[in-house]
Amino acid sequence: MQHELDTVINRYDTDCLKWDYMEKWLGIPKGEALPSWVSDWDFKAPAFITDPLKKRIEHGVFGYSERSDEYFNAVIDWWSDNHQVALKKEWFHTTPGSLPAIAMLIECWSNPGDQVLVFSPVYHAFYRTIENTNRTLAISALENNEGYYTINFDDLEKKLQNGVKILMFCNPHNPGGRVWSEREVTKVCALCHQYGTYIISDEIWADIVFSGHKFFSCLRVNPDYLSKMAVCIAATKSFGLPSMRLTNTMIPNEHEAEALKSKLLAYGIDVYSSLSLLANQSAYRHGREWLDSTLSYLESNNQILAEFVSTELTKVTYRKQESTYLAWLDCRALELTDEELERRLYQAGVIPTMGYNFGEQGKGFIRLNLGCPKSILKEKIVRLRRVLK
Ligand SMILES: Cc1ncc(COP(=O)(O)O)c(C=O)c1O
Repeated sequence: MQHELDTVINRYDTDCLKWDYMEKWLGIPKGEALPSWVSDWDFKAPAFITDPLKKRIEHGVFGYSERSDEYFNAVIDWWSDNHQVALKKEWFHTTPGSLPAIAMLIECWSNPGDQVLVFSPVYHAFYRTIENTNRTLAISALENNEGYYTINFDDLEKKLQNGVKILMFCNPHNPGGRVWSEREVTKVCALCHQYGTYIISDEIWADIVFSGHKFFSCLRVNPDYLSKMAVCIAATKSFGLPSMRLTNTMIPNEHEAEALKSKLLAYGIDVYSSLSLLANQSAYRHGREWLDSTLSYLESNNQILAEFVSTELTKVTYRKQESTYLAWLDCRALELTDEELERRLYQAGVIPTMGYNFGEQGKGFIRLNLGCPKSILKEKIVRLRRVLK
């Protein structure tokens, strides 16, 4: 039976970063390659998001907008129902995206030169943020057990003892695809608390979690551990709204939120896009059933890729993601340089994000976006077969 997500939508000529900018940024002529890099998906937003937007556009006046109680309650109810966290309205700091909030928090909670730690390999923009705020990058390498990533807590503790000011946590993890367990999350938060380290937990993938796994937010740990914590939450990944960019950063400790509040005022981030507010509110209010069906679709894409890799790409290792629609493929056994691997993939017409962007520990890996109709996924597979066998 045809699934609504099977529909292929032409995204060219929509100023789309993922499709249109392959030509501008990567030099790949239009129509020649299937983009699998940027982490947004190629699905159309559902009617419960687009109908209210159409009505709002029809209204035609787009003045400054503020977050209504309906907006706050939609987010609060979603998190209470789905993640067992009781968010408080006072905790909200709303920004156009997670990265602006993360960068501002780094500036608020540390000084130039201070160490900010990530678990590598990790979402590449974290590095850019640390570098461009003139902080010192500290790395705790994740342990890779045949594709299953775990935290090296001894190493983490040593690094924290060594004066790390902020830990940037990615929960669930991009690109490793782990949904950190209650035990792991609690241990990370307890160690940060013990050493007085701030923790910024980026939880924007929290809703994309596959069967058999349970997301555990940092906001659920012992209340004592929340004293130096910020948690970024968003509907952008869950409902395909990255250009309706809106993130709510929760800071439970009022005193620690003061610096961010004044920065938001200084930068004029105290009014919001009416369309973004409405899209995100509609998603949170009406999206559960649609998201469940989308998760099943993504999970079967995940399964298709896993079967293909295990039967045909004998030199590639892939462990099915627990979260995100971004598959993390270990190509090291092919014994190619990253340049050669990239060249081959570009030639075949599949454009992943190369693993080296995620840190030293990502070398020899590729990250492949599975957020696409099955017909496109199958074509990606045909192309991968040509060059990774
Ligand atoms: C872990 C993580 N954080 C942040 C972002 C970017 O989010 P935003 O556009 O809200 O800044 C992404 C995008 O892929 C991501 O994977």
